[in-house]
Amino acid sequence: MSKKTLIVGNWKMNLNTAGASLLMHRLHERIKIHRDIEVVLAPNLLVLQPISVQIDRRKFRLAAQNAYQKDEGPYTGEVSFTMLQDLVHYVIIGHSERRIHFNESLDEVRDKVAACVRNDLTPILCVGETHNDRKAGESKQVLHDQVTTALSNLTSQEVENMVIAYEPVWAISTFGGELAKPDLVKSEMDFIRKQVADLYGQKVSERVRILYGGSVDNNVVSGFLAIEGCDGVLVGGASLNYHKFSGIVDVAYKLGHNGDSDG
Ligand code: PGA
Repeated sequence: MSKKTLIVGNWKMNLNTAGASLLMHRLHERIKIHRDIEVVLAPNLLVLQPISVQIDRRKFRLAAQNAYQKDEGPYTGEVSFTMLQDLVHYVIIGHSERRIHFNESLDEVRDKVAACVRNDLTPILCVGETHNDRKAGESKQVLHDQVTTALSNLTSQEVENMVIAYEPVWAISTFGGELAKPDLVKSEMDFIRKQVADLYGQKVSERVRILYGGSVDNNVVSGFLAIEGCDGVLVGGASLNYHKFSGIVDVAYKLGHNGDSDG
C-alpha cells in the first residue's frame, strides 16, 4: 500500500479565531481533494474548537501543536491528549521550539508520545540537531537519542502508524532558516529510518512516515519531496500564507504521478 504524501501546516502561536477561520476558508477555496495527499492544519489550541466545526474533513485533518502527558488532574494551564480526542487526528510532539523555549526533555517527549497513542491520536514526533550539534559532529548521536527515547514505550503497530518529522533546528525559519541540502536531508532521514528498523524491524521502518521540515515553501518543496523516503513536509512560516501553502500542495500533486483529483 503506498503512503499518502502528508503536508502539515504548523501555524504556531499565530492567528486569532477570525484570522484562522479566514485562512482556513482561503485554503478551502484553493486546495482540491487529492486521494494521494493528506493536508493537515495545526492551529493554536484556542482556535482548534471553532476551526474543527468549520473545516471540510474530506479536505483537511487537524493537528494540535502540543498537549500535556497526564490525562487529567491538577495541572493548571495544561490541556491533555484526552481532551483533544474528538478534535484532532494528530498532535505535534517535541517541536524544537518546545524543546528549546520550554526545556522539554527527552523523557517528557517520550511520555507525550506515549500519552498521544494511549489516547488514539497520531504523534508527529519532531527531531533534529542544532547548528552546534552539527558543528561538533554530534548530529547522528542527537537524532539517535531523540528517536530511541521517544519510541521506547511503543508497540510496533503504534510506531508504524506514527509520523516522524526531521527538522534540523538551524533550518527552521525562526532559528536561522538556512536552507538544508536535499542530500544531507536524505542521509539524516535514512539514519532515522535505520533507528526505527534497528528497534522494530524493516517492515515497521518502511511503514513509518518521515517528513522534512525547515523553511519549506512553494519554491523549494519539490527538492525535498523528490527525496526517496520523504513522505511529506512540515511547514511553518509558509503555512500562514494561503498562496504559498496551497502552492506546496499543488507541487505535491504534480510530483505524485498517480494522483487523482476529486475536484
Ligand atoms: P518553518 O518552520 O517552515 O517556518 O521553518 C518549520 C517548523 O517549525 O515546523
